[in-house]
Amino acid sequence: MNSTILIVDDNAGSREALESILGGQNYTLQMAEDGLQALEKADTLHPDLILLDVMMPDMDGFEVCRRLRSTPGLAEVPIILLTALDDTASRLEGIESGADDFISKPFNRQELRARVRTITRLNRYHTLLEQRESLREMAQRMVTGLEDERMRISRELHDELGQLLTAQLMDIRDLQNDLTIPPVVLFERLEKIHNQAYEVTVKIRRLAHELRPPLLSTLGLKQAIEVHCSKFSSHSHIPITVEVDDEVAQLPDVYGIILYRVLQEALTNIAKHANAKRVWVELSLEDDLINLIVQDDGRGMPEADKTVSGIGIVGMTERVALVGGELGIRSGKNGGTILSASLPLKPGTIHKREEA
Ligand SMILES: Nc1ncnc2c1ncn2[C@@H]1O[C@H](COP(=O)(O)OP(=O)(O)OP(=O)(O)O)[C@@H](O)[C@H]1O
Ligand SMILES: [Mg+2]
Repeated sequence: MNSTILIVDDNAGSREALESILGGQNYTLQMAEDGLQALEKADTLHPDLILLDVMMPDMDGFEVCRRLRSTPGLAEVPIILLTALDDTASRLEGIESGADDFISKPFNRQELRARVRTITRLNRYHTLLEQRESLREMAQRMVTGLEDERMRISRELHDELGQLLTAQLMDIRDLQNDLTIPPVVLFERLEKIHNQAYEVTVKIRRLAHELRPPLLSTLGLKQAIEVHCSKFSSHSHIPITVEVDDEVAQLPDVYGIILYRVLQEALTNIAKHANAKRVWVELSLEDDLINLIVQDDGRGMPEADKTVSGIGIVGMTERVALVGGELGIRSGKNGGTILSASLPLKPGTIHKREEA
């Protein structure tokens, strides 16, 4: 991936000189002509390095540096000050305003290239370390999640199914010990045992469904989504519009499970929290990207809610991240919530059908 470098200088000649020194070396170069433009561009581009002229009208490089350092998300960006000033006082002010390094004008081509290369490499290393740390945390949460899930299943097997079956065994034994019971009473007691046995089968079926969605294995992703959505709609009484690209049938298994689980949680959240009147689900394939969108017209989701203690959103984010994808949650134009999961695909996974 190219490093983006933001060059900030009011002098067109200096900008061109820097462009000629750093051009053609796998950097994406962006220019700003004054301090304000620099702050705006830094905010939108999030560059990997800023080369910042000191002497500029209106807002000098020191001030730009101070402002960048107090902006969340930009406080860590490496900044090299470009200065004709070689005096200690200016360098001191540069350090105090948060610069990482200095390069004197006129530029020495080799020195400039070497400094820029070192800083961009270090920055990339730093980013890699951060990514590794967040992957480690994610793996930890997944292991804990797995253990919690096992505990829940074990509790359900032991406390619920175990107790129901024990009660039935005792009832059957009771009947065996008293074969003189009148038929009416016998009928009632057998009816009770029958109902309990039925309850056990329902619980077992539910547990099995939770472990692996059977719809997905038997019907494939497209139909599984359609059936799930229509069940959701009949339980919640919220009309739902579903559009699924036919080509999703070619997706590898792991994508199907991730998308299906995200859809389940998104719809559960809508039923629990949104107070929606309508829901739209769309799963589409676009080049090498799969997009799942679940939109509702409900109460919307305040920013603060995205970080509440529920495990639904965290779980969706982590599932999607497993294949390098991203989960986004934003407000709809007319209110409501739009949840999107974008999963990148290896090029060539999907063969688009030729248009007739
Ligand atoms: N579609 C939605 N509309 C409005 N608010 C939502 C919607 N989806 C989620 N929320 C809000 O976001 C919060 C976090 O959702 P999340 O799924 O992480 O947790 P939860 O549903 O509260 O609990 P859990 O999923 O762990 O059972 C919810 O508590 C709710 O306030
Ligand atoms: Mg939830």
